[in-house]
Amino acid sequence: MNLDDYIILHSDAEPEYLAKVNRATHVKLINPRMCSGHLQGRVLSMFCHMIQPKCILELGTFTGYSALCMAEALPDGGVLHTIECDDELEDFIRQNFTGSAYGDKIKLHIGDALAEIEKLDETLDLVFIDADKREYLAYYEAVLPKLRVGGYILADNTLWDGKVIKPVEPNDKQTIEIMRFNDFVATDPRVEKVMLPLRDGLTVIRKK
Ligand SMILES: C[S@@+](CC[C@H](N)C(=O)[O-])C[C@H]1O[C@@H](n2cnc3c(N)ncnc32)[C@H](O)[C@@H]1O
Repeated sequence: MNLDDYIILHSDAEPEYLAKVNRATHVKLINPRMCSGHLQGRVLSMFCHMIQPKCILELGTFTGYSALCMAEALPDGGVLHTIECDDELEDFIRQNFTGSAYGDKIKLHIGDALAEIEKLDETLDLVFIDADKREYLAYYEAVLPKLRVGGYILADNTLWDGKVIKPVEPNDKQTIEIMRFNDFVATDPRVEKVMLPLRDGLTVIRKK
């Protein structure tokens, strides 16, 4: 047994419906690794139970797995907005939401994240950044004014497969931009922050 197996064995099981969504993601899509999966899904759900957000924004829906995990903790009347630019995923995402007990709390926006954020007239309690890695800093600046004081941003993939500490190729835009985001947030006095070595790196940011 390795430590990852041990961690899974000592955490909540993956809810049955989410295991189905996870499996269908692996069967139907070419890049299933993008799905948060069992452990990160349970962490997102637990964070939402702790933070008790009423309004969540997710950037990067993919197949809806992480949205469904976060929606578990939403109170009656709470809402999770999730933005996905790939319209070919729309039917699959909607099917995953419709089959879930939490699906009616989720509003799917098909479009570019930056354009959709601008249209959103909400005060946000929690933002999960998980869309285009080259735009992380732009997403951060776009959502921060809409986030309430004391609200949280979770930024996924901030370790980017360990590439953030290796020599970077000048044409590797994704790594360059993740590093720029990490460096910027680390010294941004508007927020408190801690980087967790969960999966591919999850940075927890709190607006002062
Ligand atoms: C890592 S996946 C999201 C995984 C999902 N949050 C989860 O944990 O299960 C990133 C998603 O962001 C979408 N995306 C990429 N660029 C985007 C953009 N500019 N606007 C909106 N979505 C975008 C991709 O199509 C992809 O589905």
